[in-house]
Amino acid sequence: MSATPLVLLSARIGPLTPWETGIADQVPCRVELRPLGTREEIAANAPGARAIILGAVEPFDAATLAGLAGLAVPGGQDGLGLIVRRGVGVDNVDIAAAAAHGITVTNVPDATVEEVSDHALALVLGLLRGVPGAHVAALAGDLPAARAAVDRSRPTGECVLAVLGAGRIGRRLVAKAAPLFRQVLVADPFVEKVPGAKVVPLAEALAEADAVSVHTPLTPRTEGMLGAATLGAARPGLVVVNAARAEVIDENALEDAVRTGLVAGVGLDVTVGERRWRRLIADGHPNVLLTAHTGGRGSLAQQTLRRRCAEQVVAYLSGQDPGSVVTPGPRPG
Ligand SMILES: NC(=O)c1ccc[n+]([C@@H]2O[C@H](COP(=O)([O-])OP(=O)(O)OC[C@H]3O[C@@H](n4cnc5c(N)ncnc54)[C@H](O)[C@@H]3O)[C@@H](O)[C@H]2O)c1
Repeated sequence: MSATPLVLLSARIGPLTPWETGIADQVPCRVELRPLGTREEIAANAPGARAIILGAVEPFDAATLAGLAGLAVPGGQDGLGLIVRRGVGVDNVDIAAAAAHGITVTNVPDATVEEVSDHALALVLGLLRGVPGAHVAALAGDLPAARAAVDRSRPTGECVLAVLGAGRIGRRLVAKAAPLFRQVLVADPFVEKVPGAKVVPLAEALAEADAVSVHTPLTPRTEGMLGAATLGAARPGLVVVNAARAEVIDENALEDAVRTGLVAGVGLDVTVGERRWRRLIADGHPNVLLTAHTGGRGSLAQQTLRRRCAEQVVAYLSGQDPGSVVTPGPRPG
């Protein structure tokens, strides 16, 4: 006889709320919060779980999945069967390895489109206007510096915005930005038309743009896509925003571009490390906004994400299709 299924919520995205604990009211199971942030924590805490709800960085790579699958009874009902990614990007889960072990992976692809596109637009507008520099100067009581930060700006209606990646979030950003900007360009090799924007190659988008906002997934092809070569061909004074995945930008190259004056502002919701950007601000480059991967958050989004994850777990444990299954195989990028 199978034991009561165990459902885990990664402590990184805790605490447990009634959305998760309520799973056990709908289908027999135990729901627990456990640390799953590292390979060691996964090896210690994940064995025995039938379903796991996790965030954007818990490393469910091939070796980790093989270790967990090896503990399960082959073909039995007790091993790990479902991984629910509470968000969009599944770059921290090896989808092919999961499929090979019979583990279903789902995500929640559309719950944060409004929040992330709002967030990216807020960063773009703040940086183009010089708001961070004015803010830092105002806090220091330095009126000339505040004025200098803003005096370089131009009206949005004269600026060109480039959007890299025209999927759910990129397209929503285009729709919001099109009435504000002189022109919106899109660089996405997998789309031909985007209402409100002109689709162009990456190099052309960067050569024309006053601001660029990144909305691609992280894939082998997009990793380091904005690096020394691509940034070197950009229009001087470019503002760079990333609310997608940190590794799409080569941050060494981006920092160099800010220090040499090629890039005039940086807005990073995602970054491989915040220290270098704090140092940059301290070194006299205040047009930097960091938001600690909060781009998808908001009162509505958090409720929707939790509800949708719980629904997927209940459906799976009830023997139904959980929906939003991420399949292995070639994906754009
Ligand atoms: N900051 C946050 O909190 C947050 C929240 C949700 C999603 N995200 C991230 O935002 C990104 C976009 O999410 P989405 O839901 O819009 O994804 P999506 O899959 O709907 O769209 C991605 C788009 O990128 C395009 N693309 C792929 N390779 C490309 C390339 N080499 N050059 C240009 N375009 C390319 C695809 O064709 C697609 O149109 C993902 O990285 C996701 O993980 C971040």
